[in-house]
Amino acid sequence: MSSIIGIIGAMDEEVSKLIAKADITAAEDVAGMTFHTGKLAGADAVIVRCGVGKVNAGICTQLLISRYNAAHVINTGFAGSLSHDLGIGDIVVSTDAVQHDLDATGLGFKKGEIPFTGMSSFTADRALVTAACKVISENLPDVRVFSGRICSGDQFISDKAAKERICADFGGLCCEMEGAAVAQVCCLNHIPFIILRAISDSADEAAGEDFNFSLFQSTVADKFVSAVVHLVKAV
Ligand code: ADE
Repeated sequence: MSSIIGIIGAMDEEVSKLIAKADITAAEDVAGMTFHTGKLAGADAVIVRCGVGKVNAGICTQLLISRYNAAHVINTGFAGSLSHDLGIGDIVVSTDAVQHDLDATGLGFKKGEIPFTGMSSFTADRALVTAACKVISENLPDVRVFSGRICSGDQFISDKAAKERICADFGGLCCEMEGAAVAQVCCLNHIPFIILRAISDSADEAAGEDFNFSLFQSTVADKFVSAVVHLVKAV
């Protein structure tokens, strides 16, 4: 049996072009999410929009693994930049992911640490990270690719103070709202994962305006989809 790749995005805009490119043979609704099964770039894939936030992402990832037998998980989507070096349209490949909004410091745990587990960051699969950086630089020479930490939380970050707090506490290249939940579920199930994010805004006061889907769709989305397809081919 060839191995199945699960691909998760939070919003329609993040998965619709991938679904359109795939040869979909079945679609099933579970837990309010539609799981599209078929072939993408010749590989067996299940593509799903999970909805925004870590709870949706966690439910979706466990379903991909338990019900659809995903052997690898790719989380795609947009992110706000946490670094001056990154601009709109750049792609971030995760090295690891943390939950920047998880705070049990009042009980003596570190910021981002899941109490009583010793876990705070979840490491992406090294082979997937290497493959992603390689296929993006080889196939999309005009796209800048960075690899580093992704910070997730149930907040759209749109002010400088919040952004600076995340940078000070966790470092990281970008912020979004699902990746660390995907990462945690994959790690608990021993499933390799990677998060690929295209920068849509700078997570500051202008983020709401920058997060402009029609502009983003017309300028960046095709390249980003192409990056995901190239990665799927390389898995
Ligand atoms: N996804 C895209 N931009 C984001 C931001 N600024 N904060 C959280 N998630 C995002």
